[in-house]
Amino acid sequence: MKHLTIVDHPLVQHKLTLMREKDTSTASFRQLLREISLLLAYEITRDLPVTSKRIETPLVEMDAPTIEGKKLVLVSILRAGNGLLDGILELIPAARVGFVGLYRDEDTLEPVQYYFKVPKNLEDRTVIAVDPMLATGNSSVAAIDLLKQAGATDLRFLCLLAAPEGVERMRQAHPDVPVITAALDERLNEKGYILPGLGDAGDRMFGTK
Ligand code: URA
Repeated sequence: MKHLTIVDHPLVQHKLTLMREKDTSTASFRQLLREISLLLAYEITRDLPVTSKRIETPLVEMDAPTIEGKKLVLVSILRAGNGLLDGILELIPAARVGFVGLYRDEDTLEPVQYYFKVPKNLEDRTVIAVDPMLATGNSSVAAIDLLKQAGATDLRFLCLLAAPEGVERMRQAHPDVPVITAALDERLNEKGYILPGLGDAGDRMFGTK
């Protein structure tokens, strides 16, 4: 997989535009995020290895495709990651789930860890870390650092919006981790928000502002 994949599907782009609009309600924002996360999950799992198994249809036996091997682990980078997580779990209900609690210090923009809980045997699994906003890249890089320390070797990062600064930071720190996003925006502002962006993803999905 390439280091950066932008999912420029018309449905994704249309829904993202609705999410960016400042007057979109919390309920609509949440619903749209859920819908987009299904479409992004479809893309991020596109290259999962497939094997076949013998099944019986009501008419005949056949060798039918089935996803091979490793159990997927989804890791939500709290709290905004949970919005993406819920949608993906609808599509991949058997996935294991982990959480990394990081918040961004608004003055230094550095990530501060407050929670870390992931499934065992990460080294045997494909791990998809999810966070809607890849802004400075500080928290994403820190989350991937922690997941690698916990044993993960096969990692992907899924977000909704990325800033060039964050993509570059991830590419330098973790060139082995593909980034999948719905859009690559223009830049960060002085407070570390993505422009044009959609504001604070957590606040918009949880209605906390
Ligand atoms: N986090 C957000 O929620 N929004 C941004 O624009 C940047 C980081």
